[in-house]
Amino acid sequence: MKIIKCENYQEMSEKALEVIQELLKDVEKPVLGLATGSTPEGLYQEMIKANEKGEMDFSDICSVNLDEYVGIDPENEQSYHYYMKDHLFDHVNIKEENYNIPKADGDDLDKAVEEYNQLLDEIGRRNVQILGIGNNGHIAFNEPDKTLSIGTRIVQLTDDTIEANSRFFDSPEEVPKKAISMGIGDILNADHIVLLANGKGKQKAIHQLIHTEELDPMFPASFLKVHPSVFIIADKEALA
Ligand code: PGA
Repeated sequence: MKIIKCENYQEMSEKALEVIQELLKDVEKPVLGLATGSTPEGLYQEMIKANEKGEMDFSDICSVNLDEYVGIDPENEQSYHYYMKDHLFDHVNIKEENYNIPKADGDDLDKAVEEYNQLLDEIGRRNVQILGIGNNGHIAFNEPDKTLSIGTRIVQLTDDTIEANSRFFDSPEEVPKKAISMGIGDILNADHIVLLANGKGKQKAIHQLIHTEELDPMFPASFLKVHPSVFIIADKEALA
């Protein structure tokens, strides 16, 4: 694991873009794995600026997102569809047919899961997977559990995650309790993984991730240890 320590959130976001651009520089049609949450918002801002300056072209980029809440309309402000459009897609020259997010608002969730697994098979290995980390060590919505899944499926959110994500909703009751999420195998199916973390809240998870010697489903991020190219780009608080 390569650990890059940054002074603050802005530096973390700029450094992340720099690393991603370097990793993609010889790739003709990049496939990016994208994440939601507060952490990558600054990185997406930097991507938008780079796109405006002609330093990052999205016209040949294909993207796949990690997850989506079950039962939320894509037009709803709390959906990850909305988040991605608002924070990135509406501001760069990505083609609508080239970005992919699980469709989790329909009646047939099993079919939506099957379709996303098929899509990931067709798209194949991502060049770069961007990742955040939950306070409880989750990656995407792979929550601490006795076992973890390899592929995309429907997951139950833990109370920790519902609590953490309630800051985006009027109350914890409004936070969806389920999501469609890529599995651990899907996440690892990338040439490079760029994990971002900032702030005190992530200290414990980052410390455990760096120092763990075990693959522990109760700490899902530990599975990143088997990947040969993981960058942890974090501010000094998260790395303290
Ligand atoms: P955050 O979420 O970026 O909003 O802290 C990260 C995550 O839960 O994976």
